[in-house]
Amino acid sequence: MPTRLFSFIGGDTGSWQVAAMDVVAGEALPAAKRLAIAPGADAPSDPHAAWMLRGITSNERYVLREDRVQMAARQHGLGRPEAACAALIPIRKNAAWWALTQDQGQDVFEEQSSHAGPGLRHFPALARRLHHCRDLSQNLPFDFITWFDYTPAAAPAFDELVAALRATEEWKYVERDVDIRLLHEAASPLAAT
Ligand code: HEM
Repeated sequence: MPTRLFSFIGGDTGSWQVAAMDVVAGEALPAAKRLAIAPGADAPSDPHAAWMLRGITSNERYVLREDRVQMAARQHGLGRPEAACAALIPIRKNAAWWALTQDQGQDVFEEQSSHAGPGLRHFPALARRLHHCRDLSQNLPFDFITWFDYTPAAAPAFDELVAALRATEEWKYVERDVDIRLLHEAASPLAAT
């Protein structure tokens, strides 16, 4: 059975080179040059790691049926050779979000913010995986770890998508948002050294 648990390790090793790290809201993360992603429970312990974030994939809570059907039909899998760019965006939402009822959360996510629908329509070539941290512990620094990969040509479209999401009602509940952009080793200048 494929693992649902993933560790994201920022430090000096890993096949992704950190190209930029911007703090959009809340506290920063310590600087890291590279990112390693370890699936499963046996994440390597790296004494030199600047940070390690863990999350687990889970069932969807808010997505509408029509969007789920669209996603299944149109979304790419992660790890395409041409997807040399990636974004790791860990997110923490505030207490007001977690106090919402299911229908209130769904209303903000889908009706007021159109989270999944427009992204899919304008950017079907985005591959993504959402990890929930609160399903592991409520004392972790983030609630979600979002991971995306895309081609270099799609980078401007990804920037637009993220900017549009950050302007939605949903993001009023976001209290920590760190935007880390990465280049795959094969595409990075470090690969030549
Ligand atoms: C094509 C673009 C995107 C699509 C199709 C998409 C779709 C989804 C879906 C289906 C979910 C799960 C909803 C559920 O539980 O039912 C989700 C959750 C989430 N996504 Fe996206 N997403 C996209 C882009 C993004 C981006 C760019 C970010 C970050 C900047 C992001 C951050 C999140 C977060 C934080 C959650 C968890 C929300 C919560 O449960 O409170 N998404 N997304």
